[in-house]
Amino acid sequence: MTGLMDPVKVMKEEVGYKAAGRVESNSIVGLGTGSTTAYAIQSLGDRLQKGELENIIGIPTSFQAEVLAKKYGIPLTTLDGVDRIDIAIDGADEVDPQKNLIKGGGAAHTREKVVDSLAETFIVVVDSGKLVDKLGSTFKLPVEVIPMAVTPVMRSLEKLGGKPELRMGVKKAGPVVTDQGNLVIDVQFESIEDPASLEVKINNLPGVLENGLFVGVADVILVGEIKDGKPVVREI
Ligand code: 5RP
Repeated sequence: MTGLMDPVKVMKEEVGYKAAGRVESNSIVGLGTGSTTAYAIQSLGDRLQKGELENIIGIPTSFQAEVLAKKYGIPLTTLDGVDRIDIAIDGADEVDPQKNLIKGGGAAHTREKVVDSLAETFIVVVDSGKLVDKLGSTFKLPVEVIPMAVTPVMRSLEKLGGKPELRMGVKKAGPVVTDQGNLVIDVQFESIEDPASLEVKINNLPGVLENGLFVGVADVILVGEIKDGKPVVREI
């Protein structure tokens, strides 16, 4: 690896390509969101073009995934058009030792949870910086909320021990608006001791569409690392 390359980018690229290598012909593939999954989508397109892979159809988890799939020539469908998803590839913002995740850094966690949960095999692609002992230690938990309920949901999240803040746009005045037209509250928790129970409690708040805790959903975690100056991929 040259000293000029960004190591995180190199790890993301390597792990994205590795995950795409696990997709077989004739499969229905969930296409995740984010910079790591973007490499997997690109690689799936390359494999299709080379004839290494045939007859795959993608289910995008976001507008971004849809645009990338079209760019790289991956045919797409919707959940109404299929009776199963064979494999899904998606990134994560944190991964704990039990393979539980925080997702939603790209505000796409609602659709991601639908698609990733339906997949027969859900492969998570991350660089080694995403591995944590406890969820919530490095990343705030994203919660998608319908706009009229933002204030009461923020109060309720405080009662659950969190410090909520409305996610603001970059290069856009005002808040981030999701692909569904909703808003995102990022919540800092001191420590998430019981992710399964917190996931349910937050989703039970009226006005919450979905939160970024993915508990018991991931099957395989592929971790991109740099060893002796070279990118390698480890499976958890
Ligand atoms: C989007 C997500 C992404 O998968 C997550 O934020 C990881 O992104 P990246 O691969 O760019 O680090 O959950 O909602």
